[in-house]
Amino acid sequence: MYYRTLGTSGLNVSVIAFGAWQIGDPDFWGADAEADPDGVVGAAVDAGINLFDTAEVYGDGRSEEVLGKALRGRRDKVYIASKAFTESCTPEGLRIACENSLRRLGTDHIDLYQIHWPFTASAYEEITPVLQALKTEGKIREIGVSNFGPEDLDTWMKIGAAVSNQIGYNMLFRAPEYEMLPACRRYDLSILAYMPLMQGLLSGRYRQLDDIPMKRRRSRHFAASREGTRHGEPGHEELLSDTLEELSDFAEAVHVPLAVLSLSWLIAQPGLTSAIVGARKINQLLANLQAAELDVGPAAIAQLNEISYPLKRAMGYNCDMWETDANSRIH
Ligand SMILES: NC(=O)c1ccc[n+]([C@@H]2O[C@H](COP(=O)([O-])OP(=O)(O)OC[C@H]3O[C@@H](n4cnc5c(N)ncnc54)[C@H](OP(=O)(O)O)[C@@H]3O)[C@@H](O)[C@H]2O)c1
Repeated sequence: MYYRTLGTSGLNVSVIAFGAWQIGDPDFWGADAEADPDGVVGAAVDAGINLFDTAEVYGDGRSEEVLGKALRGRRDKVYIASKAFTESCTPEGLRIACENSLRRLGTDHIDLYQIHWPFTASAYEEITPVLQALKTEGKIREIGVSNFGPEDLDTWMKIGAAVSNQIGYNMLFRAPEYEMLPACRRYDLSILAYMPLMQGLLSGRYRQLDDIPMKRRRSRHFAASREGTRHGEPGHEELLSDTLEELSDFAEAVHVPLAVLSLSWLIAQPGLTSAIVGARKINQLLANLQAAELDVGPAAIAQLNEISYPLKRAMGYNCDMWETDANSRIH
């Protein structure tokens, strides 16, 4: 494992971070979500992962509880990142949300407290002082945002502070490269990538798009006829299938599992600090960790960029994976 500094903070975080949504939300991830959370979290710590990401909304707080319990006795070895959801972003609500997260996690501080999505319930000016107060009180160490586009970052960074922006980014979703990544770099924000494996699609485990569980095929890649989508657009299914096939062929040719190649590509991107990977099975976790040992090199990166470019162009600038340009929540 190797480590990078989180934005302008003094925290050194592992390039592969652990996503804890999977271990505490059986409604989304399926019944075996909580099969062995202590085992998988323990294996992650033993392998050198020191950044664990959760949120108050994952499983309605269950993810924080399960993670907190699994980290008992290991708390001093790791950094915990959690998030406040949109509804909590009022001056009174944010403090309550933070204290509830601390209780569920069984800890006295959250190392990185993130605003999960841009919000409108209150003005940013009302929220940033609450975060600063929580920091002064030692309840949170660093402030982060998530899903903030360039315009929101411009507003936020004028009045508040952040060390990171957590965004959806992977080889099948490169929209952040147009404007969002440059904006993060302008503000010295660490980029933490979620959905690095496109929820399993980039592991090559699905033979065809129809095999993907319904909740994992709701993004703009998929046709509006797919249950659960809300964008109403035709999608880019043929291009998605072709891209996946070409990526799988490339992975096979270089004898690297597609999941590992996908993570290595991601952590090689400029400004990228960590890929937050979800795994609820120890064998998946350990397999994915090979990405931290692999230097894909510029030639392979260029080829992967070329293969994924037509899909990047088709998906466009909109960094909201699920909504149309007009309804995008990311500005
Ligand atoms: N800020 C935000 O708005 C936001 C949004 C989404 C997620 N996140 C964060 O990102 C974390 C990662 O979750 P994600 O939704 O982004 O998904 P992801 O990491 O792209 O995919 C995780 C899923 O892929 C499958 N997988 C992982 N490794 C595999 C392997 N080696 N071979 C085959 N399949 C493999 C597993 O599915 P199975 O469990 O079914 O086997 C796993 O649950 C979350 O836990 C959360 O912390 C943040």
